[in-house]
Amino acid sequence: MSTNVNIDWSKLGFAYSKTDLRYISIWKNGKWDDGKLVKDNNLSISEASTSLHYGQQCFEGLKAYRTKDGSIQLFRPLENAKRLRNSCSRVLIPEISDEKFLDACLQVVKANEAFVAPYGTGATLYLRPYVIGIGDNLGVGPAPEFLFGLFCCPVGAYFKSGLSPVNFMTSDEYDRAAPFGTGDVKVGGNYAASLLAHEHAASKGFADCIYLDPATHTKIEEVGAANFFGITKDNVFVTPKSPSILPSITKKSLIYIAKEYLKMDVQERDVPIDSLSDFKETGACGTAAVITPIGGIEHKGKLHVFHSETEVGPVTRKLYDTLYGIQFGDVLAPEGWIVKVK
Ligand SMILES: Cc1ncc(COP(=O)(O)O)c(C=O)c1O
Repeated sequence: MSTNVNIDWSKLGFAYSKTDLRYISIWKNGKWDDGKLVKDNNLSISEASTSLHYGQQCFEGLKAYRTKDGSIQLFRPLENAKRLRNSCSRVLIPEISDEKFLDACLQVVKANEAFVAPYGTGATLYLRPYVIGIGDNLGVGPAPEFLFGLFCCPVGAYFKSGLSPVNFMTSDEYDRAAPFGTGDVKVGGNYAASLLAHEHAASKGFADCIYLDPATHTKIEEVGAANFFGITKDNVFVTPKSPSILPSITKKSLIYIAKEYLKMDVQERDVPIDSLSDFKETGACGTAAVITPIGGIEHKGKLHVFHSETEVGPVTRKLYDTLYGIQFGDVLAPEGWIVKVK
């Protein structure tokens, strides 16, 4: 039975808070154990764990949503399971099956049901699955043992006063990923590489930085920890295609919504940084905010403003409303996108 929580859902941000129970499973002697829920939110692991020294770890992020009828649902969790497997295989971590991943999500959400905000608050339950190399190890090499964990935290509506655009600057000095590196998987090293770049952009008054392709610095790749999309002046949904971008599940969903719900043409292709004037609207997309409208992008000291620095554009608004509606159960979802927590 969950704690009786007393949370002001309107005040929640995107921050850690301890919930009742979390899931832990251990890989040892060639196999994963069955996993269990535990109370303790601290891990005790070897000081020689590969995750601590050599970054042998990966993670995911997804949310549980409360619908109008009071039930709880997950949005495309098997896409996260698949991406986690890709990340695991890139850093030599034993893979986790769809069944095991989903079982962990469902157990944690059910055990912490009281932390799933009421419908209408915009708040959600954020789930953080992670896999780390543990056990005694010194040389660079894969760990002898692994831990698959999953915890959850209630998080607030990203935009408290409606969708509002923010500005970004391109990063000239720092890349988050290398060509043929780990940019397309969700490993901690990519985020360590982004901390200084983020701080640099924030110190200049920007929300975050836009990463350009690491080989030539001429094409848009990612917007902070989110994917980029733009709407051209002739209404085509465009998003960058590159082997060093993390394949966003939100982006994949927006592509489907643009095509099937809004009847737009979609292109996944190079987006040269000198083609900003082709776009009437642009945005960043990811699980945390769904869509962050981009007001303007500063590149080489010059700010290019899209639709507006203060108002969200009409196409971005429709994309957002449709996806948000699907996630909270108000808009009919395509087959297989929603998993009910029963
Ligand atoms: C680097 C990066 N790009 C894009 C995304 C957006 O992915 P998703 O839509 O699956 O949350 C994330 C967040 O997970 C991210 O960390």
